[in-house]
Amino acid sequence: MNAQDAPAPESALVARQGALTLLQAALARRGGLDEALGAGRFLALSPQDRSFARAVAMAALRHLGPIDRALDGKLKREPTAPIRDLLRLGLAQAFWLDTPAFAAVDTTVSLTPKPLRGLVNAVLRGVLRDGAPAEAPEFLAPPWLLARWRAAYGEADAQAIAAQIALEPATDLTLRDPPDSVMAADLEAETLAGGSLRLVRRGDVATWPGYDEGRWWVQDAAAAIPARLLRVEAGQTAVDLCAAPGGKTLQLAAAGARVTALDKSAGRLRRVASGLARTGLTAETLTADAADWADARTFDAALLDAPCSATGTFRRHPDVLWNARPGDIPSLSQVQGRLLDSAARRVTPGGILVYSVCSLEPEEGEAQVRGFLKRHADFRLEPMTLGEGGAPAAALKAEGWLRILPHHIRGGLDGFFIARFRRHSAD
Ligand SMILES: C[S@@+](CC[C@H](N)C(=O)[O-])C[C@H]1O[C@@H](n2cnc3c(N)ncnc32)[C@H](O)[C@@H]1O
Repeated sequence: MNAQDAPAPESALVARQGALTLLQAALARRGGLDEALGAGRFLALSPQDRSFARAVAMAALRHLGPIDRALDGKLKREPTAPIRDLLRLGLAQAFWLDTPAFAAVDTTVSLTPKPLRGLVNAVLRGVLRDGAPAEAPEFLAPPWLLARWRAAYGEADAQAIAAQIALEPATDLTLRDPPDSVMAADLEAETLAGGSLRLVRRGDVATWPGYDEGRWWVQDAAAAIPARLLRVEAGQTAVDLCAAPGGKTLQLAAAGARVTALDKSAGRLRRVASGLARTGLTAETLTADAADWADARTFDAALLDAPCSATGTFRRHPDVLWNARPGDIPSLSQVQGRLLDSAARRVTPGGILVYSVCSLEPEEGEAQVRGFLKRHADFRLEPMTLGEGGAPAAALKAEGWLRILPHHIRGGLDGFFIARFRRHSAD
């Protein structure tokens, strides 16, 4: 956003207060940012204020490591959390949103309690004098996550992953009726391998061509790969065990499968239903816990896009980096193992199971596959071929699974792990 897009002076403080609320919610807990973006108080702001507030909060989150490093160089004592957040937002505006430095400082100072205004003013001016902070990858990622990525992928890939944190992603769409060159042209989109569209366009997607007719949905290019790898054919049965918000269910339905979509969250499942309604696609939607879903049916294809630490989604959700805790990973791994065991029961002999997670952590990916194959002698890996489903070449591993890293294509994509299994035929 450019300086001329910044809100008018009378709403300047309202928008910045909105940004503060978003940043505080984002750093308080996982999912906090999405909740705050959907809260009545935030939705009551003007569209311009909302978009500015979101842009400032997102910039603060994408550059949080370097911002905090710069602040630590100027602060003699740790300020309260709200003051640090205000400082972070002030710097985010001045360095990454083209807000004039004087406006960033003045508005931040105005939102500061009187006794602390001198301090905030001095700290901001001090950092601004030094210029934008260094954005070396080791400053962008939380150190414990960077250490994990180093251990898993080596120094060069770990650095390349972390370098993506500061970059604002494009918007990716999945087409309902691919290929749709008319739609691609109307949206001025680049068509990626696999058929996803990539757009530089920003703003409210509901106003874009083709939205009302349901000709596409928003879905990261990497998130669109797992459903393609099920290779469902028209009329086959498919179960999507963790379906919400529903991009993969829509893909399976668009491919002509008879889809059953499960999610344990009734609220999130409503988003699947509204996506189906908008696109005119059909699927059976059920609120259920996939681990103990009491349903004896088996399916030609099963997709388990399991709940995970979501560390691969930091390009669109930079807050995941700062909310993730080391202890999350072993507990999520246990859940994933249970869900995989349940998924296995849903696959007809001869049928396919795809397991995916938007996590960069090997315990949630490679280790799950190894454990699953030990527990389920009736399944074997069904290796992916080079480029299948639009996957980047670098993601294909010798075992035949995909480890997609965020820098694997120009412009980036979400980090994902994807494996495909086939259940032995009964005969
Ligand atoms: C990674 S998201 C799925 C994203 C979805 N596949 C898509 O493409 O839009 C994980 C989902 O799993 C759901 N979930 C978590 N535990 C579950 C369980 N035990 N049974 C069913 N759904 C579960 C969550 O509510 C969440 O919607």
